[in-house]
Amino acid sequence: MSGSDVGLLREAIADFTVDAVHGVLGDEAWRALARSETVPGLRVTADGSRLSTLIRLFQLQSVVPRESAESAFGPAWEAARSLGLVEVDGDDARARLDLRPYGDESHDWWVVCDLTPGLDGRENPRDPLYVLGISEASSSLAQLTVRPEVGRALDLGTGCGVQALHLAGHSREVVATDVNPRAVQLASLTAALNGLDVDVRDGSLFEPVAGERFDLIATNPPFVVSPPDGDRLVYRETGFDGDDVVRRIVTQAHDHLTDGGWCQLLAAWIHREGEPWQERLASWIEPTGLDAWVVQRERVDLPEYAEMWLADAGLRHAPGHVERYDRWLSWFAEQGTEAMGFGWITLRKAERAVPQVRIEEWTTPVAQPVGADFLAWAGRTDALDAGDLLGRCWRLASDVVQETLGPVGAADPAVIRVQRTEGLRPSRQVDTVEAGFLSACDGDLTAGQILDALAQLLDQDPALLRGRYGPVVADLVADGFLVP
Ligand SMILES: C[S@@+](CC[C@H](N)C(=O)[O-])C[C@H]1O[C@@H](n2cnc3c(N)ncnc32)[C@H](O)[C@@H]1O
Repeated sequence: MSGSDVGLLREAIADFTVDAVHGVLGDEAWRALARSETVPGLRVTADGSRLSTLIRLFQLQSVVPRESAESAFGPAWEAARSLGLVEVDGDDARARLDLRPYGDESHDWWVVCDLTPGLDGRENPRDPLYVLGISEASSSLAQLTVRPEVGRALDLGTGCGVQALHLAGHSREVVATDVNPRAVQLASLTAALNGLDVDVRDGSLFEPVAGERFDLIATNPPFVVSPPDGDRLVYRETGFDGDDVVRRIVTQAHDHLTDGGWCQLLAAWIHREGEPWQERLASWIEPTGLDAWVVQRERVDLPEYAEMWLADAGLRHAPGHVERYDRWLSWFAEQGTEAMGFGWITLRKAERAVPQVRIEEWTTPVAQPVGADFLAWAGRTDALDAGDLLGRCWRLASDVVQETLGPVGAADPAVIRVQRTEGLRPSRQVDTVEAGFLSACDGDLTAGQILDALAQLLDQDPALLRGRYGPVVADLVADGFLVP
C-alpha cells in the first residue's frame, strides 16, 4: 500500500461522507438500504454525478460505466484500482471491496471491508476469510466502550478497523490485532485512509502483544458457538471449544492491563444444564482479581440461535440447511447446552483486596452511549470500597426522576418508583423513607444525618433506621442514583 495512493484517494473521497450519502439517497432509500434493498437507491442515483456513482459502486454494489467511475475518482483512479477497491471489466467497473463512509459526532471516517452480503435477497455463502464491515455489534461495542484519555489502547480482533478509529480519538497509541491476514490488510488501509497511525498486527488473541500492557482493551471477538465440524467463518468463529474464546480473553486480560486499566467485550456464553450462567462466568472472572460488571442483555433459545447464525452465513436457503440446523441442535444437546446468553463484559484492574463483581441480567432498554455509565461505575465502586457510606455526603444524580402511582384522588401514592434516565437506566421501587432520603441528598448532610432526621420525623428508632437503610444506600450508590 503506497502512501501517495492512499493520500490521493483520501482527497478524492473527502466529500463522500455519511451525511452526503444520506443526502443523496434521502430517508426512504436510506432506510431501504438498511433493509438490504437497493431498488429505491438505484432510482435516486441515476443522475451520473460523482456522489451517485460512488454510492452505486459501494453502497448499492451496482455495475457502473468505467468512464463514470474513472471520473468519480479523478486523479485517484489508478490508486482505487491498485488498492483493490474497484475492478474493471471492459467498459464496466464494479467494487471489489466496500469503501464505507462512517462517523461519530465529531469525525467523518471511511472503513474498508468486504462487500455487504445479502443485498436484494441474494444469499451468497461467505468466504471463510470474509472481513466484516460495521455491524450492529460493532456499534454496540463502540457505545459500550469507556472513553477517558488513555495512553495505550488495544483493539483485539480488529476486522475492518472500526474500533481502532474510535480508540484513536482518545488514546495516544492504538494497537490492533487480528488472526485473519485479510483483516490486517484492510484495517491497515482503513487507518491509513483516515490519516491515523494504528499499529496493526497479525496473530491470535493476545499473542501479538505478549508482555505488553494497555489502559484499555476493546474487543468484539468471534463469539459464535457452533459445532466444531462445520464450516467456520473467521469473523465469527474460532477453532476454540464452545465459548472458550470469551473465557480466554477474560482470564488473560489481567496480564495485559495497566493498573486501573479496562477491558470491555461483547460476548456470548453457554447456559449449561444444572449450572447457573452467573456461576460459570464468576468461575472465569473471580480468579483474575479484576473488578467486573457482566450484563446479560439477552437469553436466546437454541433453535433461534442456530437459525440466526445460519441466516447470517447466507445458508438459510442453501442445500443442506436442514441437516446443518439439525446437527447444530444435536451438538448443543450433546454438550448439555440449555440456551445461549449474550451481553457485555467490563473488567477493570482496580487491584482491590475484595474485587467488586456484578453479574446480572439487564434486558431493559438503555440510553446510549452506555460507556459513560461504565466509566462512572469505577468511581462508584471506589466509593463503595472506601466504606463508611452513612458518614459521607451524597448528591442525588442529575438524571434521576420519580414516578408515582396510586388510586385517583388518594392523598398518598401506593407505589413510588425512581429511575435514572441515562446509561443503563436502572429503576427501583422505593418506600417513603427512601424517597424522602433521596430528595434530601443534596451534598450538605451525611447519609446518616439524613436518616436520623427522618427517624425523628417518623418517630422511629434512629439506630434501627440506619441498620435497615445502610444496605439500601449501598445499592443506591452502586446503581448511580447517588453520587459522591
Ligand atoms: C466479530 S469481528 C469484529 C470486528 C470489529 N472489531 C468490529 O467491532 O466490528 C471479530 C474479529 O476477530 C477476528 N478473529 C477471529 N479469531 C481471532 C483470534 N483467535 N484472535 C484474534 N482475532 C480473531 C476476526 O478475524 C474478526 O475480524
